[in-house]
Amino acid sequence: NQSLKGRDFISIHDFTAAEIDLMLKTGLQLKKAQQQGIPHPILKGKTLGMIFQKSSTRTRVAFEVGMYQLGGHALFLSPRDIQLGRGETIQDTALVLERMLDGIMIRTFSHDEVLELAHFASIPIINGLTDLLHPTQVIGDMMTIIEHKGSLKGIKLAYVGDGNNVAHSLLFGGAKTGMDVVVASPLGYEPDANILRKAQADAQATGAKLRVVEDPVEAVSQADVVYTDVWASMGQENEADQKEQNFLKYQVNQELMSHAHKEAIVMHCLPAKRGKEISDAVMDGPQSVVFDEAENRLHAHKAIMALVM
Ligand code: CP
Ligand code: NVA
Repeated sequence: NQSLKGRDFISIHDFTAAEIDLMLKTGLQLKKAQQQGIPHPILKGKTLGMIFQKSSTRTRVAFEVGMYQLGGHALFLSPRDIQLGRGETIQDTALVLERMLDGIMIRTFSHDEVLELAHFASIPIINGLTDLLHPTQVIGDMMTIIEHKGSLKGIKLAYVGDGNNVAHSLLFGGAKTGMDVVVASPLGYEPDANILRKAQADAQATGAKLRVVEDPVEAVSQADVVYTDVWASMGQENEADQKEQNFLKYQVNQELMSHAHKEAIVMHCLPAKRGKEISDAVMDGPQSVVFDEAENRLHAHKAIMALVM
């Protein structure tokens, strides 16, 4: 009987395969309870602070609604309003907020800021996206794959595009659960070598196969899941034009999908730039599960909060 109570949720890499499995199962159970109208006030009387240094639709709504459904309360803390935005340190912010809150979710640029917050705060810190990782996304994504494909082990997931935060968390998620993850990125935009090395080490234990290639057709060939994300992430707005040139071959469209398994599903963490990394026909087509995937953020976040808080 594993307990995750009190743990930070900063990277999938920090958890054992059994702990990740517990999160996925808890998420699927909480989804069923919600759909059946069975109350589950697991966090009654608890509060979550949510610090957003970047925009968000899904993450914010999923944490706020999720906390409400768990019987607790969530506060949206915009850097425009809190003193962190005027230069109060992460340390002092942590030492104050831990006196009042039961957990903090933070979305920010630098991953080190999240580590620093976790270092100083004694309450659980949940990573709601950094430039390096997007772990809550991938818990929901793995729930979505289980729902559509039955399991994770041996599933071939092809990620096509920028070797970014989402790609990194998919590599960690795949490594822990025994998926085959192949990332196709243009030269110079591959996933971080350090992340890949850590994920490869995790993969030894599960038999997951992880690869980085340049050719998107090679990556999607026989894939069960084709995944993409924006070419320019939040904070990279000034690179967008250059990246559009470099990523032209990496659009997930019907031609590219013709190389995947006939039954392959298409995923995107959203928000999407339609007509850039994904065509309308694919995003709105029968293989797309992007809105199931978005919904599962709610259930995944509830599982993470219920387990660590
Ligand atoms: N996928 C995701 O994290 O979406 P938001 O940026 O809207 O939260
Ligand atoms: N890679 C994207 C994900 C958004 C949810 C970004 O960081 O902007």
